[in-house]
Amino acid sequence: MAISSKVREQMQESSWIRRMFEEGIELRRLHGADNVFDLSLGNPILEPPEEFRVELMRIARDERHGQHRYMPNGGFAETRAAVASDLASETGLPFTGDEVLMSVGAAGALNVILRSILDEGDEVVLFAPYFAEYVFYVSHQGGVVRVAGCDSEFQPDPESLAAVMTPRTKAVIINSPNNPTGAIYPEERIAAIGGVIQEGESRYGSEIYLVADEPYRKLIYTDEPYPFIYGHHVRSIVATSHSKDLGLAGERIGHIAINPGDPRRGEFMDAASFSLRTLGFVNAPAVMQRIVARLQGAQVDVSAYRRKRDLLYPALRAMGYECSLPDGAFYMFPKSPLPDDVEFVRLLQSKLVLTVPGTGFGTPGHFRASYCVDDGTIEGSLPAFEEAFEEATG
Ligand SMILES: Cc1ncc(COP(=O)(O)O)c(C=O)c1O
Repeated sequence: MAISSKVREQMQESSWIRRMFEEGIELRRLHGADNVFDLSLGNPILEPPEEFRVELMRIARDERHGQHRYMPNGGFAETRAAVASDLASETGLPFTGDEVLMSVGAAGALNVILRSILDEGDEVVLFAPYFAEYVFYVSHQGGVVRVAGCDSEFQPDPESLAAVMTPRTKAVIINSPNNPTGAIYPEERIAAIGGVIQEGESRYGSEIYLVADEPYRKLIYTDEPYPFIYGHHVRSIVATSHSKDLGLAGERIGHIAINPGDPRRGEFMDAASFSLRTLGFVNAPAVMQRIVARLQGAQVDVSAYRRKRDLLYPALRAMGYECSLPDGAFYMFPKSPLPDDVEFVRLLQSKLVLTVPGTGFGTPGHFRASYCVDDGTIEGSLPAFEEAFEEATG
């Protein structure tokens, strides 16, 4: 076969969400769309805020020449400056446009970061449960994944990180608010992770990056200030996007921000510009850059996601499901009432409710339910959740 055996194997491994997606189509065909309750996807349901449409119309009417041409690979200077100014006011750190690079979503940002820092065989630590795509991003950019664990509240475990670090460790990826658990990592935990990374650097005489994937940063349901990573490790880089906070997942716009305190940040940014260009992104979409430059203070109505969480979470708990309360993002990660999460997801599926087994996130024994759906889908899924719990435990 002409397809690379590596890609063929990866497609096989990555088949969970895809399989649920395809089976969902078949179930809708057999039973009618209104009778299938799909909680398997993370496709933002809220429309972009009104300001987005206003800016889009303004750009459509702007007749100046040259607006859709190539630009510097890192993005328009005005956009980078606008993002930096927002970051400076959020973090209190002296960000300038030189510490910001516009990317093709958080996914594009992560690939650019990994391409820029990894040599063949370098290791990248993930904490399970993790967003499954990381495994492929690391592999595509020549790295090898090492998996550390979380505690029972899905907080990353510093001791487990220490145990998997080696002289080849080049990066540690964290994701908060987390997909699939909705957990937010508190300041003390990030500080502890930073401490373990620094011990590793001294032990091995190496340099290790702390990379935070933050596409859900503004989807938070607590009043606590968001704990940024920059104060906890000098080599810290953030990848993020407006896929969720502005509801622009299909428009592929995000950015990379590097710690202004990293003395070698210029070297990293040069490498990242090169990687962004030669991975074939060339630059982030021009129209979107012009729009988000003016929308740094805007976001979708996060209270709508919180309301959906508050529809699903107490209902599942009342049925007997064990689950941590998600503080952000739009997922929850209950314990599977059957020891085999895949079997339980199949049981739910037989009752026309679609979820994703924890196995797909490196954590068997749980399943992910997305509440990024309309209220009717949540309400319609509840009787099946209850029946499945009773069958599994009865
Ligand atoms: C944890 C996490 N990281 C990255 C991404 C990719 O997002 P983007 O659309 O910004 O590329 C997603 C998308 O669902 C995600 O859940």
